[in-house]
Amino acid sequence: MNMNKRIPVIAANWKMYKTKDEALAFIFQVNELVPARSKVESIICAPSILLNLLVKREGENIRIGAQNMHYMDEGAFTGENSPLQVKTAGAEYVLIGHSERRSYFNETDETVNKKLHAAIKHEITPILCIGEQLDERESGRTKAVLDHQLEIAFKDIHPADAAKVIIAYEPVWAIGTGKTATPEMANDTIKDVREKVKALYGAEVSEAVRILYGGSVKTDNIRSLLAQSDIDGALIGGASLDPNNFLEFTKAALEF
Ligand code: PGA
Repeated sequence: MNMNKRIPVIAANWKMYKTKDEALAFIFQVNELVPARSKVESIICAPSILLNLLVKREGENIRIGAQNMHYMDEGAFTGENSPLQVKTAGAEYVLIGHSERRSYFNETDETVNKKLHAAIKHEITPILCIGEQLDERESGRTKAVLDHQLEIAFKDIHPADAAKVIIAYEPVWAIGTGKTATPEMANDTIKDVREKVKALYGAEVSEAVRILYGGSVKTDNIRSLLAQSDIDGALIGGASLDPNNFLEFTKAALEF
């Protein structure tokens, strides 16, 4: 982890998993056991329909996030949730541009940018997801792809707001596949991401911004990832569905 005391982030991405009862059982189990919020930001990104239920039961140190939202305040968009609805449900974070949204729901860098503006306008902390496909990695285009995603995502975002964005670097080929980037590879790429943020906004913002790794993070590789110089935490899908794992991830974040 970093030397500049960026607060680490452990964010669970539940995707389309958990019923109401399962969600309640999870939050009751972890509420009292996660580290203090001043030491680790422990976030559950849940399906929209469960947000308010979880917010009502969240303990002192757990925070709730949405997995997506529309960028408009309201409108005829059947099945979507607006930033205002996410906000009034009590969610404090929102995943933006997750690769599953990009590949199954036609999200583009441009809609990601609009959503980032909307989150900032409504004071919801965005967790901006970026990542390269396997062929892009293999043909040496990772940096170009990520730079492009960042340039468009941050278009017309003010530096003071950019510093509050959490970036999650998730190589698409590592999500749900059991293939993790090696800790060194993840760290090198995250350093490049930080360099790009520096090029866009200067050193102060690039040193403040938290950059997470995501993609097949498990309890047996979390520590080697967090031990890296530039990895400020993790966005975890499958392995975060188990409350004991989630607690283990938050505990690991205290160690570095
Ligand atoms: P995974 O998912 O941990 O199951 O690979 C990560 C993510 O999609 O955010």
